[in-house]
Amino acid sequence: MAINPALISLAHAAPRSLDAAERENVVGAAIYRATCALCHGPGIAGAPRLDHGDSWRQRAATGTETLIGHAISGYRGDRGLMPARGGNPSLSDDEVRAAVEYMLSRALAGSGPTDSAAN
Ligand code: HEC
Repeated sequence: MAINPALISLAHAAPRSLDAAERENVVGAAIYRATCALCHGPGIAGAPRLDHGDSWRQRAATGTETLIGHAISGYRGDRGLMPARGGNPSLSDDEVRAAVEYMLSRALAGSGPTDSAAN
């Protein structure tokens, strides 16, 4: 099992009415808040903010798997350096994947969380 057990417990603590995809997002959301929001919340060091939907729509056009691969392996683009696994080498591939899927679902919905949601 490549997902941290603490995150699984957190996901299972979510209301029973959530479907599987939403429970997955609870895991992704926890990782996002712990590791990715540092840059992607306020847009530090050139990181695309979650509330900048246009930037994410352009990136999503390259394919979700490409974005997940860049988040796992690291990526240097026009705006700056995306560190491998957001700089947290203890994250598994599945955990990084869950975080990217969470970020895309929020960003492409057009109203990403502000930093208040990351506290
Ligand atoms: C130290 C700051 C920083 C942290 C922490 C960080 N990122 Fe990034 N991320 C960036 C920057 C900067 C870019 C934009 C690179 C560019 O396009 O020039 C980026 C881009 C991305 C992209 C788009 C890649 C692409 O191909 O366009 C994804 C997906 C992403 N980050 C996911 C994550 C995830 C998931 C985490 C947490 C596990 C995370 N990031 C943590 C700085 C960060």
